[in-house]
Amino acid sequence: MQVCTTIAQIRAQVAAYKQAGEVVALVPTMGYLHEGHMTLVRRARAEGDRVIVWIFVNPTQFENPDDLAKYPRDTERDLAMLRAEGVDAVFLPEVSEIYPEGAETIVETTHLANVLHGAVRPGHFRGVTTVVTKFFNIIQPDVAIFGEKDYQQLQVIKRMVRDLHMPIRIVGQTTVRESDGLAMSSRNVRLAPEDRIAALILSQSLNAAEAATSAGTTVENLRQVIAETIATEPRAKLVGCDIVAAESLSDITGPLTGPTAIMISVEVGGVLLIDQRVVTP
Ligand code: PAF
Repeated sequence: MQVCTTIAQIRAQVAAYKQAGEVVALVPTMGYLHEGHMTLVRRARAEGDRVIVWIFVNPTQFENPDDLAKYPRDTERDLAMLRAEGVDAVFLPEVSEIYPEGAETIVETTHLANVLHGAVRPGHFRGVTTVVTKFFNIIQPDVAIFGEKDYQQLQVIKRMVRDLHMPIRIVGQTTVRESDGLAMSSRNVRLAPEDRIAALILSQSLNAAEAATSAGTTVENLRQVIAETIATEPRAKLVGCDIVAAESLSDITGPLTGPTAIMISVEVGGVLLIDQRVVTP
């Protein structure tokens, strides 16, 4: 596995792959890898001949300097995991190389970045689209893999790639789940045993909403199904439930007319968990 720390190194590596006619698949990460990332890596392996992973804790997507400082890092462990997975190259640059002195250019999806999570995290998605554009320009992959778990991020990236005519195929990888249905997250380890069982209510509420989905179902009805299902679990508290058009992320009301994204956040035993499902009437 090649570990590249400079733009020149990774470009030379990618040029060699392309010279050999190989399809380059990219997995973007901020490191501190877990099983969810490994699923993205395996998907990249299925989509391309060469797999490149970038590890970069992107400062411009953190609104709070404290969160950035506290972001967990363990590069040696990350590299060992990627090596074991047979990754071809890792790009691990310094912040100063990606954001040179005086850097002022930003990339922003003006609507999608500022709704839902974007409305409460101003500047977050602008930081994501800016850094992803930089890495796409540096690496020029044929395909890039993003997790569906960060549903809004995936839609933002797809829109940016379409709008800016970037010749890169964006693949959304379905959320990895524990065998009982709980979406994998580094937060799950913080759940006490009884909360771990209670947390199943997230996927169960989405199952109930999906079962209730039919051409006649309304957004209001789905919202009620989610709220009522979560309310059956006394250890869980529904914090947020966004039901929006799956691609535009626009607010919708009344009967479902097309693919609809349901995004929930639920607090269980003091731990905030998220899950999402796209349903089609
Ligand atoms: O999803 C992430 O880990 C980050 O937002 C990404 C896409 C690597 C950009 O920094």
